Amino acid sequence: MTASPLIELIAREHPAFVHVPLGLVITLPLAMLGSFWSRNPERWTRTAFFIGLVALAGSAVALFSGLMWGRQIALIPGGGYFPVVDSGKQVLQRILQLHELAALSGVLLGSLTVWLLWRAWHRDNQAALGGAPHRRHEGRRFWERGVGIPALAAGLMWVGAWGFCGKLGGVMVFGNEETNKAAAEAVEAKRLDAEAEVPVRALDYASLEPAQAAPFRSKAHGNRWGRIWVTASAIDAYKAGKPLEPGAYAVMSTYEDHGGKPSQDVGPLYFLEIAADGKPKLAFYWPRVPEAQRAEVGGEDFVYWRSPDPHLASCLTCHAKGMAGSR
Ligand code: HEC
Repeated sequence: MTASPLIELIAREHPAFVHVPLGLVITLPLAMLGSFWSRNPERWTRTAFFIGLVALAGSAVALFSGLMWGRQIALIPGGGYFPVVDSGKQVLQRILQLHELAALSGVLLGSLTVWLLWRAWHRDNQAALGGAPHRRHEGRRFWERGVGIPALAAGLMWVGAWGFCGKLGGVMVFGNEETNKAAAEAVEAKRLDAEAEVPVRALDYASLEPAQAAPFRSKAHGNRWGRIWVTASAIDAYKAGKPLEPGAYAVMSTYEDHGGKPSQDVGPLYFLEIAADGKPKLAFYWPRVPEAQRAEVGGEDFVYWRSPDPHLASCLTCHAKGMAGSR
């Protein structure tokens, strides 16, 4: 989870990096146009080819830094490539999906453009070998002059794709009406949400029914010692391994292991609730992460993650269907 300082820098500077390839693709059609009218079309074709090539290479850095940045700010799940959108309120995630699609279409169009430019250059070389060192436009149809109209069209579409991508990037960084409205709604929802800052119900776990008399070692949860606490009306069903009713929830309180025994050092609280649609809603709360363990949680000293936080995606590998079991 923790990245090297260099990767962190590359990620943070994404808004700066992108301007290098973007500036080059904007210049590219100008060089291409030069090849239609200049007395020296080969030179412009070659220039255009190199501008396109550097723009394409620059896009690799831009894509990589964008991906790292998205993961760092948890808009993209760690290890994933694309933001997950499961509610219309996730405006940033929706914009980011489009942003990524536009960036990738730009790379495809860019590869096509560079390939067409390379072909035009190659054709010029062949013409030169054939004894025409300074190819002129005469005898060529207009769209076959210089770099050719297909390359120019692909280059312009490349500008279009990245221009759109850049516009969305600007919206994500500086905001627009829709993102501002979503931010205001999120603030309001947080005000009405009693568990926005701390998981009140999980912290009150001792008011629930313990499923075990003593802590047990849980391999699935960092090898900590844990005890599971379940809402009173659901404890019998839980112990019998039956699916629980919506509204039922369980908390696993944990202690760190010291030499094979549970210690007094309190570990994180794990929370799982059955939502109205029968699906699990999870939370992970670790109010004071000891320094030595911060690497586990991306360097944070306080962690409170709740569904749909992408950090909890790993819980779902075992909890996709809800409670994982009684013991
Ligand atoms: C490797 C599989 C696995 C992963 C990953 C996992 N769990 Fe569990 N979870 C289990 C199992 C198995 C149990 C049953 C108790 C035990 O064996 O630890 C359990 C029990 C629980 C319980 C008690 C209720 C129940 O389901 O029985 C809660 C709450 C819980 N997990 C939350 C979480 C949260 C939150 C995460 C992610 C931070 C998580 N778990 C990650 C497998 C997993």
